[in-house]
Parts: sequence; structure tokens; C-alpha cells
Amino acid sequence: MGCVMNVVILAAGQGKRMHSALPKVLHPVAGQAMLARVVSTARRLCAALASGIPDASAHPDAAGSHSAARIIIVHGHGGEQVRAALDAPDLHWVEQNPQQGTGHAVCQALPLLDAAQPTLVLYGDVPLTRVATLQRLVEEATGTLGVLTVSLPEPRGYGRIVREAGRVLRIVEERDASEAEREITEVNTGILVAPTPALARWLAALRNDNAQGEYYLTDIIAMAVADGFTVATAQPSDTWEAAGVNSRAQLAQLERIAQRDIADALLEQGTTLSDPARIDVRGELVCGRDVSIDVNCVFEGVVRLADDVVVGAHCVLRNVEVGAGTRIEPFSHLDDAVVGEACRIGPYARLRPGTVLDREVHVGNFVEVKASRVGAGSKANHLAYVGDASVGARVNIGAGTITCNYDGVNKHRTEIEDDAFIGSDTQLVAPVRVGRGATIGAGTTVTRDAPPDQLTVSRARQITIPGWKRPVKTPKKG
Ligand code: UD1
Ligand code: CA
Repeated sequence: MGCVMNVVILAAGQGKRMHSALPKVLHPVAGQAMLARVVSTARRLCAALASGIPDASAHPDAAGSHSAARIIIVHGHGGEQVRAALDAPDLHWVEQNPQQGTGHAVCQALPLLDAAQPTLVLYGDVPLTRVATLQRLVEEATGTLGVLTVSLPEPRGYGRIVREAGRVLRIVEERDASEAEREITEVNTGILVAPTPALARWLAALRNDNAQGEYYLTDIIAMAVADGFTVATAQPSDTWEAAGVNSRAQLAQLERIAQRDIADALLEQGTTLSDPARIDVRGELVCGRDVSIDVNCVFEGVVRLADDVVVGAHCVLRNVEVGAGTRIEPFSHLDDAVVGEACRIGPYARLRPGTVLDREVHVGNFVEVKASRVGAGSKANHLAYVGDASVGARVNIGAGTITCNYDGVNKHRTEIEDDAFIGSDTQLVAPVRVGRGATIGAGTTVTRDAPPDQLTVSRARQITIPGWKRPVKTPKKG
């Protein structure tokens, strides 16, 4: 598929007001760097335009050479960190140094543009614009210049859209605006699209004789009008689609908006959320039918919950797959784990990376499982550590059981075969194997393989000392 659109993403601003070592555009919103979101939006827009279907491919983020977008990111000094974080074959990078305004920034991208296709300008710090909104703008602006505008009751700080008899004449920056112009509430979001050869011509004619001594991209609007173009405009369905981030406070606001949007989408497709204001999805959460999520859960990376999964309050799930009908009780932490169907996890359970649970497994309170497979129907209901272990089916792991997998230098594996019963307070010193159907007596330190179907116990024999008396307190002298 050929390129359908040039997209120039402005990201040269320093973001001083973030007071951060991290470049502003790498700060995440809903788990994804702002600039990565904008890149994703650009790719989805271009895929939609190329296919003629609105937002056809939900995730063309793996886009390579076949991307329908030619994306140019204009970065500032120190852009290497940004590039390292986001680089992909369909992204082109240009540095703008020094930064002399938005018009000057777009100029840096000119040599990389495909003149046969229009050019869309987006902002690396405006992360929540919808694909459908941009598609409307692009369609409105076929063959001409189009500007995404928004009406704000409090338009302070924004460039104002100056119209006459309804037609856009120009954009005036607040600092250059007259009293009357400042009253205008329709403002420039900064996002615009233009025919590329005309854009190049207008940019070449920009001057910086304005209040800020900068080359304003917005000055091309009046030039287009002078050239006989009718400037098209479109508005986002929600004002926040045009909101930019300059501070941590604004970042926090957009995070709430993004989270509410995700929660609404989950409700819409049939997920129960005890409180849509108290869920955080920092990545992708895919839910089957009749999934129910209690308050204050955090989902990171890619989390898939199959039908009828119940997640209790205050759980954190990162890159987890959960089978149908499983209940995750409150305060559980699951990281890089696969949980089968009809399992019971928690409360207060911890599944660490490499945990794979078969169906109907119970992992109870204060049980930690790491890099282990646990077979169907096995249970570790309280206070245990199962690490680097292969646990068969129908195994019972008593309270206080610990796999001693680490000798201080190397990790070793523990194998527990089907139907084994591990008594409470057992230490399994790996490498070690507990045979099928074996029983380990409570308090055993297993250092050699335990044979199948037999009782293995290592324990000092219990004795009772007849006639023994508790010591009595000797009275202090003097
Ligand atoms: C710009 C618009 C204004 C609009 C507002 C929306 C101009 C002249 N003004 O104003 O009409 O209402 O955005 O937020 O375009 N950038 C660069 N290089 C530069 C300057 C800016 O890459 O030399 C990038 C910044 O990183 C930022 C974006 O462009 O992402 C906007 O820059 P900013 O300085 O915030 O523009 P405003 O003055 O707010
Ligand atoms: Ca701004």
C-alpha cells in the first residue's frame, strides 16, 4: 500500500514545566508515551484513509514499510532518547535546532514530504485526538487547507480563528490579537492539513515580525486565503481531543479523561465495573462476556480476561491471561502469568513472571508463585513460596511450604508429581523430586527425592520429659 498522507508531528518543545529528566512527549497517558499515542493515531488514520473504512485496523502499530503513513517527527535537542524509545521503520526523524516557531518546525520536515500527498500536522504533546476527528478534518479539507478548531469559553492563550461572513480569514495569536479579536472563542488547536506543494510555498514566505519573533505556522492561513483557497474547518466531538500537556497537572487531567474513556468503552461492551472512576488501564484490557471488576484495580500491558472472570478490589494485573470463570480475590498481584479456567486466586496472592496455572488451581492468601507450572486442581491455599517448580495435578501444598530454589549462586528446580500431598511447613531443597502420590509429613526438610506413594518425613522424634518443671523467678537480694 502506498503512502496516503504525510504526517508531521511537532515534538521539539522542551517541556520545561514538567520538571522532568524524561522528555515531555515520553510521559505516558494510560500507559503509553504521549508521542507513541500520536504516532499510533497517525498510523490508524492513514490505514483508515487507505482502506476507505473508518479506523479499519485497530492496531497497525507494528507498521513497517507497508505503512500508509509517512510520519516525520520533528524533535529538539536531545531527541535521541525519544528516538530510541519509539523508533520504527515508518518513522522519519528531523531535528529542529534552534526552535524558531511552529512554522519553522514544519519547514524542517519539508525535504521528506511526498508532494503528491497532503500533509497533516499533529503535536507530540496532544495525545488524545480521535482518529475519526482527524478523518473528518482530512475529508473536509480535500484539495484545500483545513484547520481543526474548537470553541472554548475561556480561550486564553490560544490562537483565535478570525472569520468574516463565516469564512476563515486568518489566525491571530493571542499576543498579537486586538481587544476585539481576543473576544473570539473559536480557537486553533494547532492541528491542520494542507496540500503539500502549497504548504511548501507558504512556509517559504513566512516572516517572524510578530510579538514572539517566531515563524508562526498559523500565518499560512491568511496566505491560503490570499491564494484563493477556502479554508475548511472541523471540530472534535470532545474538547479534550485538542488538549495539550505542558505540566504535570495537565498530564494528570488527561490521564483521568483517558481512563474515563476506557472505562466507558468497557461498560459499553458489557463489562461490569463497580465504579468506572476507579479503574486504571495502562495498556490494553480485553474482556470476555460478563467480566466483573471491583474498585481500584490496575491493569498494565496486555491483560485478557475470559468470560465470567471476577476481579476483586485492589488487584494489579500486568501482562496476564485469565481463563473463564476464574475469581481473583482482592489485593492480588499478577505479573506475566497465565491463569487457567475456574481458578481461585487470592486474596493477597502474588503470581510472578513465568507462572502458568492449569484449570481449577487455588492459590490462596500470602502464596507466591514464580516461574512454575501448576497442574489442574492443585491447591496452595496459604502462606507458601513455589518457585522454579513443576507441580502436577491435584497436588496439595500445605501452609508454610517453601521451595528452596536458590543456593546463593544458582537456581534449581523442584518437581512435584500428580496427587502428592506436601505437609505444612515443608522445605523442598531443590533440585528435588516428590513422586506421584507421595506424602510429605509436616515440618519435613526434603533434601533427597521422595519416592511415590509413600510417607517421607524428616523430623526429630517428639519426646516428653517427665517431671520437668518450669523455672521459677529467683527473688532479688538486698
Ligand atoms: C500554538 C498555535 C496556536 C494554538 C496553540 C494550540 C502557532 C504559532 N500557534 O501556540 O494558534 O492555539 O498552539 O496549543 O502555531 N513546537 C516545535 N518547535 C517550535 C515551536 C513549537 O516543535 O519551534 C512544538 C511544541 O513542542 C508544541 C507545539 O509545537 O508541541 C506547539 O508549540 P507551542 O509553543 O506550545 O505553541 P503555542 O504558542 O501554544
Ligand atoms: Ca501550547
